[in-house]
Amino acid sequence: MAQDPAAPAIHETDITPASVRPGIDLQINGEHFRHTGDPQMPLLWYLRDVLRLDGTKYGGEHGEGGADLVLVDGKATSAIGVPMGKLADKQVVTVEGLADAKGVLHPLQQAFIDEDAIGCGYCTPGWLIASMDLLNRRKDPSDSDIDTLPNLCRCGCQTRVRSAIKRAAASMKQGAKA
Ligand code: FES
Repeated sequence: MAQDPAAPAIHETDITPASVRPGIDLQINGEHFRHTGDPQMPLLWYLRDVLRLDGTKYGGEHGEGGADLVLVDGKATSAIGVPMGKLADKQVVTVEGLADAKGVLHPLQQAFIDEDAIGCGYCTPGWLIASMDLLNRRKDPSDSDIDTLPNLCRCGCQTRVRSAIKRAAASMKQGAKA
């Protein structure tokens, strides 16, 4: 039937139920997940509210201070800033994924403990992730390399964090030689 030109425009809406949306497949800490919910959902809320991986912290709606950093394909990425829809086939590593399968801490985690670089701990997961990214790029990071990290610590642990990153670099180099 021909449409009446005087009829008001109709705006179609997508009422496809979430359960039949195409899934978004990704890996998180080496495990496979399929997200069938809202593709606009920030990764941070998927991690914390859906998977209950609450090591990654909320640091503000723009990821201020780096507490919400995770690795996406090896690169430090703000989990509040990336929607699930952008993560198809990506590999995400959160702070929970840094230890090995037997629960042995990564040398970087151990270095934070050994250097007493943890105050209240709120910022620590973000520092660990940003430091992993840095150590993947620079085997022997300088103070100025470390100062490029976006992380903030309200407990004043920056100096000890710097020592921890250097300790981890040394230990990782030694581990690579062994
Ligand atoms: S350890 Fe408390 S904010 Fe950094």
